[in-house]
Amino acid sequence: MIEVKWLDSAVFYEIYPQSFKDTNGDGIGDFRGIAEKLDYIKELGCNAIWMNPCYDSPFLDAGYDVRDYYRAAPRYGTNDDLKALFGEIHSRGMHILLDLVPGHTSWEHEWFRQSCRAERNEFTDRYIWTDNTWEAPEGMNALIGLAERVGACGVNFFSHQPALNYGYYKPKPDKPWQQPTDAPGPRATLEAMKDIMRFWLNMGCDGFRVDMAPSLIKNDEDRKGVIALWQDVRAFLDREFPDAAMVSEWGEPDKSLQGGFHMDFLLHFGPSHYNDLFRCDRPFFGGGGDASEFVKTYKENLVKSGGKGLMCIPSGNHDMYRLAKYIHGDGLRIAFAFLMSMPGAPFVYYGDEIGMRYVEGLYSVEGGYERTGSRSPMQWDSTENAGFSTAPADRLYIRLDPDSGRPTAEKAMADPGSLWHEIQKQIRIRTEHPALQSRGDIEFVYCEKDSCPLAYVRGGGGEKILVVLNPSAKPAAFECGLVPGEAIYCFGGGLTAKAGVITAPAHSAGWYIL
Ligand code: NOJ
Ligand code: CA
Repeated sequence: MIEVKWLDSAVFYEIYPQSFKDTNGDGIGDFRGIAEKLDYIKELGCNAIWMNPCYDSPFLDAGYDVRDYYRAAPRYGTNDDLKALFGEIHSRGMHILLDLVPGHTSWEHEWFRQSCRAERNEFTDRYIWTDNTWEAPEGMNALIGLAERVGACGVNFFSHQPALNYGYYKPKPDKPWQQPTDAPGPRATLEAMKDIMRFWLNMGCDGFRVDMAPSLIKNDEDRKGVIALWQDVRAFLDREFPDAAMVSEWGEPDKSLQGGFHMDFLLHFGPSHYNDLFRCDRPFFGGGGDASEFVKTYKENLVKSGGKGLMCIPSGNHDMYRLAKYIHGDGLRIAFAFLMSMPGAPFVYYGDEIGMRYVEGLYSVEGGYERTGSRSPMQWDSTENAGFSTAPADRLYIRLDPDSGRPTAEKAMADPGSLWHEIQKQIRIRTEHPALQSRGDIEFVYCEKDSCPLAYVRGGGGEKILVVLNPSAKPAAFECGLVPGEAIYCFGGGLTAKAGVITAPAHSAGWYIL
């Protein structure tokens, strides 16, 4: 695999395009709105963007139900507008990943319509169909009764998202409709997906975040089949687009990185213990929880992935509750001091930098359900609709946080003591020290069950940096032979080091040169 240099110092910002900035008053964010706010993102310090799906779609799952992979959704703009956005991003020295949804399409996709026909055609094997209308594929929900053909079609997520057919790793002999991965149907699906990647990479995007990356091949318990599939994709990219960066929604870095992804997310599902830190009854950064299981799993992953590739920890995303639902005040600053000092590329979910809240009690919008409250419009300023849109309030894509004291970017930027400025400072310092960046190594020096602080040493570029995080309300001490030097970042007061014992003040975070 060819390394992608810009990932070494990348700090991502996730944009949910619907909710970012509306420039034509229809109540929905658009490409031009994103272009207008690039300087804001850059000023925060982020130099890369992941944008959620922006393709033509009936939007029953916020665009994760693609109707035409080759066409930007008209509500965001045209393909030319998107190309222009790529240009604006690159002219600022930034990069952008699009969201690739390879596992399923919308049931309105033309491939699916053709696939439903009784007469054999090019798309008959494009999706996973059984040969019995009353029998769903094992382990999947299915669409039945929509097609002229006989069979049930497996779905990956919602009922309107038929599963594309990349084959079965171990097809069962008594189920002839389970095709091996090298059968013509599955091969054609994969080639079609490569064509889509080719199209957008040629247009100027810098790579992809891949939706549900481990799910493509069925009956593939150890993921051997899907790892081989992604290796095939990586070989194609190495040949044609060696600079294309890939991050997987997978959550098992030992497998995804083997598949040729540069980065994998640690997520709110799967084995990572991500929630222990940020989203549970007693999250570690809420001041009283346990980080030890997270650290144990993290260390195991480091060993299993052989130091290859990046494990990325997001502040949140469009699928989880907002960080600020669980963590408040100083805790948010300390959580970001963690995110910005860990290996891998950090991902900031839009609005988390100003402490945007989870909006309770909303009806589901575009398949959001409980996720809807994390997808509300970005709060820019104190003008109408928080500066998001000039549409009447009831026409906004999702209702705004109704709280009159809601945070806004304008207020945050005007207040030197805000979370926004804290994160800006953290990113600036990260950017100045390769040891803190994506590829610097990490050694945990203190992490005990139900206890604070969390301490680790980052190394790289000839430097070693000690990070000590104490989200608890009491000073926290640990035995350690290290002698902290200059504080390059300090929140909540500095360390005291005496006779081999380091003490961190309550609610503090610091990064120290060793
Ligand atoms: C994961 C995406 O992040 C989520 O928003 C979507 O609903 C499902 N995959 C289905 O594509
Ligand atoms: Ca708009």
